[in-house]
Amino acid sequence: MRTVTKDTITQAFLDYCEPETDERLKFILDRLVHHLHDFVRETNLSHDEWRRGLEFLRFTGEMTDDERNEFVLLSDVLGLSSLVDMVHSPEGVTPSSVLGPFHILGAPDLAVGGDLKRDNEGATVIVEGKVTDPDGNPIAGAEIEIWQTADNGLYSNQDNEQPEYNLRGHMVVGEDGVYKLTTVRPAPYTVPIDGSVGEMLKATGRHPWRPSHLHFIITAPGYRSLVTEVFPSDDPYLDNDAVFGVREKLIMEYVEQTDKSKIPAGLEIGENVTMPFFKVDFDFVLGKEAS
Ligand code: BEZ
Ligand code: FE
Repeated sequence: MRTVTKDTITQAFLDYCEPETDERLKFILDRLVHHLHDFVRETNLSHDEWRRGLEFLRFTGEMTDDERNEFVLLSDVLGLSSLVDMVHSPEGVTPSSVLGPFHILGAPDLAVGGDLKRDNEGATVIVEGKVTDPDGNPIAGAEIEIWQTADNGLYSNQDNEQPEYNLRGHMVVGEDGVYKLTTVRPAPYTVPIDGSVGEMLKATGRHPWRPSHLHFIITAPGYRSLVTEVFPSDDPYLDNDAVFGVREKLIMEYVEQTDKSKIPAGLEIGENVTMPFFKVDFDFVLGKEAS
């Protein structure tokens, strides 16, 4: 090892791993170090640049605590989170998308047809659809978690003015797989920019906006759980989402309705819908769990 050079150091690292090292771990480390070493050789990285990079990672750690993970946000804005999602997204099912940092456990139960909007400001949106398998058969008993921002672009856990669990619900669909709810139109918002990720966005002239969206987690026994989001087709940030979460199949239309007769049956609030309202139809297709 006394003769290690810039051309042999990558193999030297790999040779340090004991032969009994877990195969998958060895493979991942092999590829990671291979690309990292190539990166240094290819960019001719200077000491200053290397120190700056390490300082960036240190600051990322400093911004991370039990409530906030700046490393996840870094992964999001680098497109890494979405790439991991995409390489594991099978065809023929609803694509997954980023979970984001604002999901919390324990959302209150919401009956099919229930009202999430309550006293929230903004236009009423009626969201309706089915949870099915890839052949279109309803998945009875599928569980849906939904969360979103209020009209001000903030989630309930970012905003002391909102009641706990505002605009969050947990629904169990019946035999027909149908879900339905009334809510408020979510607003676009920015990812947090007071940390290392914000510095990186600023240094590269990138904006921090995400298009407005509804978050969903859908689970059912025997099916792959789906973490996803759906986006309105008219959002100005659809084509430049800061975290690369948009997929063609996750775009839906907010159809404005001025006619009360278009209010669907089975809503908890009946016909007490503020006019005009928006109607959104979106079906979720879950894939079978690999056996
Ligand atoms: C979100 O959708 O809540 C989110 C996702 C990634 C980064 C920040 C926010
Ligand atoms: Fe979000």
